[in-house]
Amino acid sequence: MSGFALSAEQAAVFETIEGTRESIFVTGRAGTGKSTLLNHLAWNTDKQVVICAPTGVAALNVGGQTIHSLFRLPIGVIADHDIDQSADLRKLLNTIDTLVIDEVSMVNADLVDAIDRSLRQARQKPFDAFGGVQVVLFGDPYQLAPVPGDADERAYFADQYRSMWFFDAKVWEQTDLRIFELNTIHRQHEAEFKHMLNAVRHGQVTAEIAARLNETGARPAPTDGTITLATRNDTVNRINAAELARLPGRVLTAKAEITGEFGGRAFPADEALQLKVGARVMFLRNDASTDGGQRWVNGTVGTVTRIASTVFVEVDGEVHEVQPAIWEKFKYTYSPNTKQLRKDIVAEFQQFPLRLAWAVTIHKSQGKTYDRAIVDLGSGTFSAGQTYVALSRLTELDGLYLSRPLRPSDIRVDRDVERFMSRAATIPAIDA
Ligand SMILES: Nc1ncnc2c1ncn2[C@@H]1O[C@H](COP(=O)(O)OP(=O)(O)OP(=O)(O)O)[C@@H](O)[C@H]1O
Ligand SMILES: [Mg+2]
Repeated sequence: MSGFALSAEQAAVFETIEGTRESIFVTGRAGTGKSTLLNHLAWNTDKQVVICAPTGVAALNVGGQTIHSLFRLPIGVIADHDIDQSADLRKLLNTIDTLVIDEVSMVNADLVDAIDRSLRQARQKPFDAFGGVQVVLFGDPYQLAPVPGDADERAYFADQYRSMWFFDAKVWEQTDLRIFELNTIHRQHEAEFKHMLNAVRHGQVTAEIAARLNETGARPAPTDGTITLATRNDTVNRINAAELARLPGRVLTAKAEITGEFGGRAFPADEALQLKVGARVMFLRNDASTDGGQRWVNGTVGTVTRIASTVFVEVDGEVHEVQPAIWEKFKYTYSPNTKQLRKDIVAEFQQFPLRLAWAVTIHKSQGKTYDRAIVDLGSGTFSAGQTYVALSRLTELDGLYLSRPLRPSDIRVDRDVERFMSRAATIPAIDA
């Protein structure tokens, strides 16, 4: 699978996961090999392990599925709603020794508590945290946080939780989370770049570091289709449209069919999806076909080869026919007085589950490694860790292109993370 052995610190964590039933949080800076250790665990464990991640791209990165598809959970806040479980799902959840979650920084506290409840329910162990399953979380809280929902969901969190972060879930009042921090960075090798990334991570960028990053980033960006990582969806869309325009041939547009009210939230796919033969695309949903293997998952990247009444996409040398998919939109209403959160289906959206993929949001790039990327911070970052995630995707400083210079306001650190990680820091580092 990989051409290298685990480092001593990675191996020590592996042994702890294998040798105990404790819940564990494996953290460390970007590129310290958290996902690599997770992959190693998947291949080498003697336990019955199930792997998941909050987003499709992150799940793909570690060969798992999304938390929502694994647990068959609805999108949005789950609160204390009943959790529907089919007999098959219950059976599956009963076979698990260890539940592994990558990119846990993007998992919110409500979802952690829903996972806990789902496992207790399926395993009929109402008094055991996670129904007795060992939970192993991987991630770096200095990277991206959970995405806040609409106003009602935010009100729910404000009322019920200290913060949205996974470490503020209620289940941790009942069970301990043991923390291991990996220290050696494997993604980058240049001491100078590692030092700069660390400064960005902790919000301690000096004028000197900023100047060096900006000097390097200011070179003209390559025009060979190098990926762009941008803060905002509109920037991503603009870049993808420009790349599409550069391709020869005719643009074909697939219009979404929408029923009901999507409200302020963005559509789950383009309302008017523009494609050309040759376009680079990313799948937005898992393959829903029931006949045999999954041909793609949410996050798979491919190239459009033919457009008819359906779209044909080549993935790793194989061409697949893609049909439109349907998304359902739920709406939550929360009343702080009654402490009730209600959920209704309010809209449906039908479109091909594809989007152009020359540019992606920084959010979607979390977990990835790139040799070169154009980082586009646009009108400014809007969440803590955004700049750190973008820059730390790169293997070397020389691969960095900035569409505009970094500003002090681009560097943000989350207060809740500092609180939690200062506690984590008191835990002795493991032998390396
Ligand atoms: N023990 C190791 N020896 C050599 N290379 C390694 C080792 N562990 C990981 N790597 C490499 O380092 C890079 C980063 O690893 P990985 O993606 O697992 O880090 P991560 O901690 O999950 O990062 P992120 O926080 O960005 O998700 C990868 O290219 C991986 O192949
Ligand atoms: Mg990772």
